[in-house]
Amino acid sequence: MKGVRAKPNLTDRSSIASRDVGRGASAPRLRPLLLLVPPRRYNLAHVAVRGVIDDRYVARNARRVMVEPPTGSGRDPQVNRQESEVRPSPGGSSFHHLPVMVDQVVDLVAPLPAGTFLDATIGGGGHAEAVLEANPRLAVVGLDRDPAAVDASTVRLERFGHRATVHRARFDELDDRVLVEPPLSGFLFDLGVSSPQLDRAERGFSFRNDGPLDMRMDPDSPVDADDVINAYDERRLAELIHRYSDERFAGRISAAIVAARPVASTAELAQIVAAAIPAAARRRGGHPARRTFQAIRIEVNDELAVLGSTIETALDALTPGGRGMVMTYHSGEDRIVKDSFRRRTTIERPPGLPVEGPSAPFTIVRPAVRRPRNDELQTNPRASSAKLRTIERAAA
Ligand SMILES: C[S@@+](CC[C@H](N)C(=O)[O-])C[C@H]1O[C@@H](n2cnc3c(N)ncnc32)[C@H](O)[C@@H]1O
Repeated sequence: MKGVRAKPNLTDRSSIASRDVGRGASAPRLRPLLLLVPPRRYNLAHVAVRGVIDDRYVARNARRVMVEPPTGSGRDPQVNRQESEVRPSPGGSSFHHLPVMVDQVVDLVAPLPAGTFLDATIGGGGHAEAVLEANPRLAVVGLDRDPAAVDASTVRLERFGHRATVHRARFDELDDRVLVEPPLSGFLFDLGVSSPQLDRAERGFSFRNDGPLDMRMDPDSPVDADDVINAYDERRLAELIHRYSDERFAGRISAAIVAARPVASTAELAQIVAAAIPAAARRRGGHPARRTFQAIRIEVNDELAVLGSTIETALDALTPGGRGMVMTYHSGEDRIVKDSFRRRTTIERPPGLPVEGPSAPFTIVRPAVRRPRNDELQTNPRASSAKLRTIERAAA
């Protein structure tokens, strides 16, 4: 259920785009700090020193996985004391999410050079765990805006000690908080929602289970599905449903929602959407409310606005030979990734000039698009729309 929070001006998208998700209403304002600082070995003590700006904030949001140092590790006892204060809650282990295309991710990270691997959407930590097992030269820094995911991945990665660090953060905060230091040996963005977000009715993401109109990945975020469903005007609602899901009947769905206001729950919303779709179309393509729920979720979490610029930031931080992987689940996300990768792997040459010249700083790791294998889809149908794209920075 949503907490007490100020509602933004819902007629002005800019107030939503700039909202400070992840910090909570009482969090202090941090001075902007660039991700691109001189390469240095990552450690929490260093973050804490920079966090002098507000070290309570760092302590609250950085979860160093290892609490006790290994014997003779030589780690700074100051660091351990701070870590023990942020030991994860035991509830984290009930978070079940099957990582998608994990074998393919393992193959792609195995040859990576030693250093830091950014898991920008750590979720339950399944991919991060596989990465740490596949390549002992890597240390993982994981981010998630969902505190339940932070708890779960912290517990799961505890056995890797100082090789794993988890922060509660939005990945677009890479630009103004010190979350990870370049160079990066690799990164992974596994976009979209985790299974627990979908499966827990009280999170309000599900068109199958009744719950509140919520859909916030970060429960402290100021905008929820109730705001979008019950306050947006009809035209704006239709536009976002169409834009974020290619729903053919966006106009009819939007009109039906506005006519039914106030809409109180996800079950009610699912029923309104289904009834707005012509009967013949309702029988095709899975649950009739699936696309609309996806669109509302993307709007609530402002998922696409910052994706392109964040991927650019991560690409800038890649070391020679480093690889960036992005897993998408719908065409809107995939288009952004594809465009970004294309720009980095091509060099525009004016017509008439010889084709020789400097080559692009990045190459696509082929195949350009990896898809889940059939055996994975048997056990995890949620993986069916996944596409994995990988890019590599050319060796120096
Ligand atoms: C598909 S799940 C990742 C699952 C993960 N790879 C695993 O192995 O368990 C996506 C996760 O990304 C998180 N997420 C989505 N957008 C985010 C953002 N902008 N910043 C940080 N986390 C985000 C969600 O909260 C969710 O936990």
